[in-house]
Amino acid sequence: MRLTCLLFAGCVLCSVSVTAAIEPISTSIAVGMAAALTGFLARYQNVFYYFQECCRPEWIKYNQTGLKNDLNTKLYGQHVAAEVIIKAVTGFMNNKTPKKPLVLSLHGWTGTGKNFVSQLIAENIYEKGMTSNFVHLFTATAHFPHEAHIDSYKTQLQEWIRGNVSICPRSMFIFDEMDKMHPGLIDSIKPYLDFYDNLNGVSYRQAIFIFLSNAGGENIVQVALDFWRDAREREEIQLKDLETALSLSVFNNKNSGFWHTSLIDKNLVDFFVPFLPLEYKHIIQCGLAEMVSKGHVPDKEVVESMARDLNYFPKEERVFSMQGCKVIPSRLDFYI
Ligand SMILES: Nc1ncnc2c1ncn2[C@@H]1O[C@H](COP(=O)(O)OP(=O)(O)O)[C@@H](O)[C@H]1O
Ligand SMILES: *[C@@H]1O[C@H](CO)[C@@H](O)[C@H](O)[C@H]1NC(C)=O
Ligand SMILES: *[C@@H]1O[C@H](CO)[C@@H](O)[C@H](O)[C@H]1NC(C)=O
Repeated sequence: MRLTCLLFAGCVLCSVSVTAAIEPISTSIAVGMAAALTGFLARYQNVFYYFQECCRPEWIKYNQTGLKNDLNTKLYGQHVAAEVIIKAVTGFMNNKTPKKPLVLSLHGWTGTGKNFVSQLIAENIYEKGMTSNFVHLFTATAHFPHEAHIDSYKTQLQEWIRGNVSICPRSMFIFDEMDKMHPGLIDSIKPYLDFYDNLNGVSYRQAIFIFLSNAGGENIVQVALDFWRDAREREEIQLKDLETALSLSVFNNKNSGFWHTSLIDKNLVDFFVPFLPLEYKHIIQCGLAEMVSKGHVPDKEVVESMARDLNYFPKEERVFSMQGCKVIPSRLDFYI
């Protein structure tokens, strides 16, 4: 009788096997013991799973209520993005047999919550959120800085995606600064986003890819500004008001790596998610939340004096925050 345990994708898996002994009596004892041990393992196997993160439902489970709550209470001023995200992620996570991986492209001005939303998605799928071994964040300028090394980046990135998805099909890949990514590099990940049943024995259909960029940000700002100048509510802005602005800019911006690739032509992106520029009142909300997260009692006066000192555009009207909520964590310290 033999007890074998192995480590696979972070999970401890144990099994019991019996080799026939010469004497029939001891064989039957061994079989009996093995059956008992197998029963024990079947019952307590789950205990092993809690030791460390592994690719199982104990660690990877979509919380729809949680994501909805987070988008409604923690994300400020992004009603369009929130609606698209909850629809896209829920549809995909509830589909037992998706035909392709989920590909989201998040667009908008800097500091408006694109990384933050990716983090909220990760936290409501992976028990360990962004620190999960199955969530991978790549930043163009940090991970792929030198154009001369593009060929080795390509092989490396493909190897990483293949390796990680074969360990855990429900892997998430976030690419920040997508507009600064070399077109060749974007091209190299294209096969993984497509409708293939499998590529060399690995299926990518459970994976999630999220692209973040400022591409189209200026056109989104223009739409928001038009609404503001017409004295219409920001909440009246709908996805369809932004869709044309977004697609035109993405298609026409020859400087953005996106344009050079057929990501868009081939309909590999499932959802384009627009992020609106943030206003003074959202800066206040971010500031108050930041005070709480730093362990202070939220103080409106402190946050207001900080918010007043930030830069806003257009110059005369001062409607939208230049850096969004991005600089708040560091700025706030000077005002507390
Ligand atoms: N719309 C928002 N609602 C709440 N917090 C926000 C929002 N936008 C930005 N923040 C805060 O500012 C930080 C930086 O924003 P980030 O998501 O990195 O911006 P982006 O990726 O769009 O440049 C976030 O971690 C978050 O704390
Ligand atoms: C899902 O999220 C909600 C709200 O954040 C939380 O109360 C609940 O416990 C979570 N459910 C699971 C199964 O983790
Ligand atoms: C998974 O991705 C990470 C980068 O996030 C990389 O360091 C690692 O080598 C990859 N694992 C495999 C098995 O390819």
